[in-house]
Amino acid sequence: MSKFSGFEVNKKRKLTSEVDSEQSKPWVEKYRPKKLDDVAAQDHAVTVLKKTLESANLPHMLFYGPPGTGKTSTILALTKELFGPQLVKSRVLELNASDERGISIVREKVKNFARLTVSKPTNEDLENYPCPPYKIIILDEADSMTADAQSALRRTMETYSSVTRFCLICNYITRIIDPLASRCSKFRFKSLDSSNALDRLKYVAEQESVTYEDGSLEKILDISSGDLRRAITLLQSASKLSTYNDDQKITPAQLEELAGIVPSNILNEIVTKVANKDVNDIVQYVNEFCKDGWSGASVINQLHDYYITNDSFTTDFKNKVSLILLDTDSKLTNGTNERIQLLNLLIKISQV
Ligand SMILES: Nc1ncnc2c1ncn2[C@@H]1O[C@H](COP(=O)(O)OP(=O)(O)OP(=O)(O)O)[C@@H](O)[C@H]1O
Ligand SMILES: [Mg+2]
Repeated sequence: MSKFSGFEVNKKRKLTSEVDSEQSKPWVEKYRPKKLDDVAAQDHAVTVLKKTLESANLPHMLFYGPPGTGKTSTILALTKELFGPQLVKSRVLELNASDERGISIVREKVKNFARLTVSKPTNEDLENYPCPPYKIIILDEADSMTADAQSALRRTMETYSSVTRFCLICNYITRIIDPLASRCSKFRFKSLDSSNALDRLKYVAEQESVTYEDGSLEKILDISSGDLRRAITLLQSASKLSTYNDDQKITPAQLEELAGIVPSNILNEIVTKVANKDVNDIVQYVNEFCKDGWSGASVINQLHDYYITNDSFTTDFKNKVSLILLDTDSKLTNGTNERIQLLNLLIKISQV
């Protein structure tokens, strides 16, 4: 027996466990873009960032946009392409909302990292990556930082800009104080439009050998309204459920069920009852409807789409219905009783 056999077994075990962990990752992580080229739909941001890769000269950056549009993925891919897998560990500091980022951390941890001189890249890294002479500090979910903590960053950003670049990421740019925003180049990440997102979703489905009926992927995009993270997660859940189907294909109806969307036949019944203006009938229907466990918030969204996009209603009617929907939505957000609110909503619409 070879004296290395023990080592071989261990190595094999390690390799298998690496493969297993890749397999067991949620798909959103498994298909997180690894290069800038993998980032779908954010052409403007990606083109500008690629240019900076060529010159390796980066400004401070501020990424903003709705959830699941690729902000975190883009900066992680960019840092990997700038520094390579080894150097990235010593050159990048990533802090997100799960880390303490009060004013004391900004003063100590961020400032200490910012003022460090840069570590030297190996010759191999230098051959393969630009390895510019600065570090990057990523402050993900920066809109959850207090205004004081953000203020404390102002001077640090300027003082150490010769050796450090900052990348702030947020959903709501209005929550970033002006002096910080004005120090950064801004990159807006837009909700993914259906064609680009569809390509990415098709790619994931192909890699995972998922089969689906026509219109299923479009349905997923429809439900997730531009949030690719939500779309990929829905695809993964649906693929588990579809194994119980005879032909193992994902169906649009199953997707609606999974996403808690009220099926169109039920929605049609609701609007017919509202149009008939029979209060007793509406009360009875809402009671049954709530017993079935449908969510009030989802009905409001769907009713909104139905009434507003329907050309057979007058503008005046649409205005009035919008106000009623708005009122119910804000009451539901404040935690009032769903059944009573829904009843109130439908009766009010029936009286418009
Ligand atoms: N533009 C995109 N191209 C390819 N995949 C994407 C894109 N946007 C989102 N994804 C997918 O969604 C997942 C989440 O993306 P990411 O974490 O980058 O979103 P985010 O914009 O940072 O969202 P949040 O504001 O919630 O932090 C990724 O792992 C990837 O699978
Ligand atoms: Mg993010």
